[in-house]
Formats: sequence, C-alpha cells, structure tokens
Amino acid sequence: MKKLEDLINSKLSRRNVLKATAAVILSSAIPAYIRAENTSIDNEPKLLFSNNPFLTFKPIPPSDADELILPEGFKYDIIRMWGDKVNDSELYGTNNDFVAYFPINNKSDDGLLVVNHEFPSPLLSGNYTDADWVNKVIKTSEQIDAERKSVGISVFRVKRENNKWSFVNDEKFNKRIDANSEIVLTGKAANTPETFNTIIVRGTVANCSGGVTPWNTYLSGEENFQDYGGEEYYRWNDNGEKFIEEHYGWVVEVNPYDKNSVPKKRTSLGRFRHENVCIALTNDNHVVAYMGDDKVNECVYKFISKNKFYSGQDGFNSDLLDEGDLYVADFENGKWHLLDYEKQNVLKNNFKSQADVLLNCDKSSKLVGGTECNRPEDIEINPVDKNVYIAFTNNSLKKDYFGNIVCLKEKNGDYGSLEFEWDVLITGGEESGMSCPDNLTFDNSGNLWALTDISTGSLNKTRQLPFKNNSVFMIPTSGENKGKAFRFASGPVECEVCGGSFTPDGSTMFLSIQHPGENSPSLDKLTSHWPNGGDDIPRSTLVAMTGFK
Ligand code: FEO
Ligand code: CA
Ligand code: CA
Ligand code: CA
Repeated sequence: MKKLEDLINSKLSRRNVLKATAAVILSSAIPAYIRAENTSIDNEPKLLFSNNPFLTFKPIPPSDADELILPEGFKYDIIRMWGDKVNDSELYGTNNDFVAYFPINNKSDDGLLVVNHEFPSPLLSGNYTDADWVNKVIKTSEQIDAERKSVGISVFRVKRENNKWSFVNDEKFNKRIDANSEIVLTGKAANTPETFNTIIVRGTVANCSGGVTPWNTYLSGEENFQDYGGEEYYRWNDNGEKFIEEHYGWVVEVNPYDKNSVPKKRTSLGRFRHENVCIALTNDNHVVAYMGDDKVNECVYKFISKNKFYSGQDGFNSDLLDEGDLYVADFENGKWHLLDYEKQNVLKNNFKSQADVLLNCDKSSKLVGGTECNRPEDIEINPVDKNVYIAFTNNSLKKDYFGNIVCLKEKNGDYGSLEFEWDVLITGGEESGMSCPDNLTFDNSGNLWALTDISTGSLNKTRQLPFKNNSVFMIPTSGENKGKAFRFASGPVECEVCGGSFTPDGSTMFLSIQHPGENSPSLDKLTSHWPNGGDDIPRSTLVAMTGFK
C-alpha cells in the first residue's frame, strides 16, 4: 500500500497550485507550505453582486478597532451580553459560540435562540486568572459557582419589531443549562463500565459549535473537555468533587420548545473534541451526522442512523442518534471507514467493547484508516449544490497557518454513501485575504459565510498581521467569484466571531462575539471594553445583523 505522502506528492505534480494546497489539510510530510505569490490584500471596497439585491454589499477592509464593523446599509442589534438575564433567576453565560434560531409559528421575526457558552472567563467572572489556577491557588466557592453558571447553553425568545430585534423574557421557554444541570447519557456508551455505569451526569462544558436536527432540536458539541479534568487543570475543585472526564466530550441534544425536557448526551456519536454536528438525510431517509474532532492531526466523522426519519414525528424522543454506525473519513482513498467493535478485528484486538471504541475515537479512528487532518472545525451543507463543506482551521505542527475550506462530494449525491471525492474551495492566506476559518453557515442562495478564529496570541502579529481582527467573510461557491472571500464584518479587539445563523427568510444573521479582550492581563489593564465602552469589562455578546434584504 502506498504511503499517504507518496499519494499526495503524485497529486501535487498533477494539480494546479490552488488544488495542491489541498495537501496541507492532511497530516503529511509536505516539505513546505505552498501558497501563491500574490501577497496583496484588496483593501478597496467595491460593489458586489449588483445584479443580486439580496447580496449587495461593499466588502470592508481589515480593521484592528475595538468595535463591530459592518458594511454600509447593515446594522446590528445587541440581543444579550454576558451578565444579562435569561429569565428572572438565571443569567446569560459568557463566551457565546454556536447560535441557532428556532421559529415560532414558522416566523422569521419571532423565535427561540439557543446559544452555547464555550468556557468560563476566570479573570472577568472572579478576578482569578488561569495562572492562579495552574498554580493551584484555591478558588472560593463563589468563584467556582460563578464559573459553573457562566457556561453551558442558553435558550430564550426573541422578536423583531419596528426593525429591531430584542430579547423577550418568556417564562414558557427561557432557561439555562449549565455545568450543574442534570443530563442523561444515552446510546452505546451509556450505562457501561466505560462511563462508570452512569446514566445521569452533571452538567455540560466546553460547548463549542453545534447543529440543528430535522426534528427541531439543538445539538451542541462538547469540545475541549480535557481542560476541566486531570491533575493540573482541575478547574472546579470544590469539596473534592471529581470531574469525571468520561462524562464529557459528547454531543448534547436540547429540545428548545420543551422547557422541562432533560438534555441528552448522545454517546453513539463518539467522544472526542466535538466542534460541531451537521445533520443530513440519506436518499432513503436515514439520519447522517457529520462531525469534526478539533485537535491537531484528528479526524472527520459521520454517523448513519439505523432507523429512518419520518417527517411529522418531531419531538425529543425520536432517539435516532442512539442507534447506528459511526464512520471516519479517509481522504487518501475517498472512503468512510466503519468503527464497529464487533465487525473489525483490529478494534477487537485493541479495545474492550464498542463503548471503549467510542470513548477513544482519537485512537480507534487511526486503526481503521482515518486520515489525520488539520483541525476540522465547522461542517455545513450547501443548500444549493448539496455538497458538504469543512473548515480546516490551521495546524501549526504541519506549517499550515491559515487553513482551508474543503468541499466533499458524496458518491451519487447520497449522504449515506461510503465513498466520496473532495476538493479545496479556498485556501487561507494573504492571497485570499482570509485566515483560520472556523464557523461556517450558508445563506439561501448557497453562498458560504466563514467566520474566522485566528487565536488571540497570534492576532495582529507577524504572519497574521495583515488579516487584523477576526472577521466574517462571504464566499460564493459558484460563478465567477467562486472561492473568493469578501469581508463582511470585523469584530472587536481579541474576539473570535462565532455562531452565524440566518433566519429562514435570510433577512437576519445572528452572530456571537466571543472573548473580546481575551488577553487582558488584569482587570485594570483591559485590552477591550466592547460593547459597553468606558471602564466596563469586555463582554461576550450576541447580536442580530440585519440589512440583507
Ligand atoms: Fe471551540 Fe474548535 O472551536
Ligand atoms: Ca469553533
Ligand atoms: Ca477555533
Ligand atoms: Ca472558541
């Protein structure tokens, strides 16, 4: 069998430079990062898509200002910021990430928003730094409590009236799920020795991106769960309570329409650093979940349900995500490889059970032929061409500093297929003007919107200098501008732009501004005061951007 390196090198000799950069998404021994010669960034705003009123905007230049900048004709309304109330007794969390809109009565101006809160901000919530934590300075119970309550998931109602979006304090829906909430483990690893024969677990953490199901529930990926356990990083060490790592790193399902429903961790989808979930239906209506493991040299997965989806049987009890097969992507051969303990000797020889395989996807995936990738982040399906788009954000270990977005085409256009082809839509770097794509979303016309996450330590420095603050880009996926990135929004200082979800009518995009001022060394040396300005602490904030039509 040929080595991956040989296959990529032969591909490189056949393909043009843009396609050749596809190789850098794979963890291979490519000798050097390949990119085009042109290093200029087009700073000149110009009118685009004048034949398409829905998408007319003048791209904005990069900015390092401490503000959220949108093109002419667009505006944003602040919906919630960290510390605002979600209901009469609970607060909106910090570090908002994935956001999804669930319509009420099919409306695009009245619905529920469900928002992930990825990680706590020890400095801002309790004047307690990560350095204190590593040095085992014991926190007070107030500090621990504030952190536990600042993460998880928020659900609340919003309305648009007189061209302004606002929060609605609706006791029928509004709720918080946090690190203390009761959550049920379901699926193949639930109630097994690998999860300590547990069914009810405590809370959800590290909620990054996610997805929405056809049965109208919200899926949230538990990503960097490893930050909460272990000896050194024992974040919540009150009363000697152990953080049970095996209860985290799953996909959590939430029913926003039923306030009393208990969230479920769907263990059959595997346990890894879940960035997101993207749901599709096979040609014969089985449910497919595409997922990425956002860690250097980790894999892309898909789950195919055993049972079929039937429209009209909405509700949280469908449990389609509990039974089915998990596969890992092999970009070398264009194949999905099964991860099934009962059917594969290599798994039987290395693991104790299917639950063991699922808990250790980072190891089991490689044994069956999964390809090591450059940090798969978001995955989304284009509603027009139906292809699967994957953001590979970067991998400094492989000298990929700017990332790629890849287009995966399943054989026969069936999401249930076990073979695929792939190509590169856009390569990050100075030529394209975009760096480190993370969250993705599509508008109804099939344009891809990519939200960037250049890490705070690299922002506005050395090789990341030209890109300035993290931004929202619009990238056409067809026509003469296919694969070009047009900057639509620029976020405040040291933020990551996250979320990015349109209302069904395409008139509004919800956007999370996460961790502005993230590198502030102390409360009297804040690097951002967004959005309130003055002396206020920087606050992760959810906004609604309008002006699309
Ligand atoms: Fe939480 Fe992979 O971003
Ligand atoms: Ca992300
Ligand atoms: Ca990221
Ligand atoms: Ca993040």
